[in-house]
Amino acid sequence: MASLDTTTPEIVPLAGSLGAELHGIDLARLDAAGFALIKRAWLAHKVLRFRGQRLDDDALAGFSERFGPLDKAPIKAAGRTYQPSRPEVTVISNIILDGQAIGGLGAGESIWHTDMSYNDIPPDASVLYSIEVPVGHGDTWFCDMEAVLDSLPPELRAQIEGRSCKHDSSRNSAGELRAGFRASYAPEDQPGAVHPLIRTHPETGRRALFLGRRRNAHVIGLPLAESQALLEALWQHVGTPATTWIQRWQEGDVIIWDNRCTMHRRDEFDPSLRRLMHRTQIQGSRPR
Ligand code: SIN
Repeated sequence: MASLDTTTPEIVPLAGSLGAELHGIDLARLDAAGFALIKRAWLAHKVLRFRGQRLDDDALAGFSERFGPLDKAPIKAAGRTYQPSRPEVTVISNIILDGQAIGGLGAGESIWHTDMSYNDIPPDASVLYSIEVPVGHGDTWFCDMEAVLDSLPPELRAQIEGRSCKHDSSRNSAGELRAGFRASYAPEDQPGAVHPLIRTHPETGRRALFLGRRRNAHVIGLPLAESQALLEALWQHVGTPATTWIQRWQEGDVIIWDNRCTMHRRDEFDPSLRRLMHRTQIQGSRPR
């Protein structure tokens, strides 16, 4: 297990096992010692926040690349969802320019999910940088999936040991159909990736429940009704106050989360308010 001296003044835990804020760090001017501190803090706290940052896309990608090579942007639904000059930088926004959405996910709720878990090799981490935010709206919630696994009743946990689940690739977390997919599929034909329901973190050795997202999920090897009942029982344990931390955005916030042991969701907000975020994803390894 990664350990960290949380009495260090620059590291302030935000909520129990999940989340910490790092003070006094300029992510655009990070040295090796600063990055080593961030990496240890991230493995210990799963989600980190840095306030007051000023990053262009090169600086955002440069910080993100310290964790590993970057993934390409997710498959788009509507609008342009990445920066043409930096295809690794995803644009998350509800802003419409000349009748065109400049980014993805709009202003609706984005349901609990792990980024791009519909891929065989989902990203290890995501970095989200707020450029323009309506303060008090569009909060992002994080859930500690190691704590969720630990909270499962033993008989429920026993039902998922050794089992895998299909993670649907046809719709994004806002429910929008991605380009190139049909509106519906038979469960056995659902496009996506199959991953273990319990995954082991390759860097800390800790185990976490790995659900991805609820829509069109299917537990492999179970009849549809049994699969639905098992998934419903598991999802009851997601997003409880004891396992959740809520990010209330300010401009210049940078959040990095560990996709191997957390999920996140975003509140819907008034579509007349402007919200603009840039995001990167750090390549991962096959979940085991
Ligand atoms: C995301 O799901 O990656 C975006 C979250 C947000 O818009 O706050």
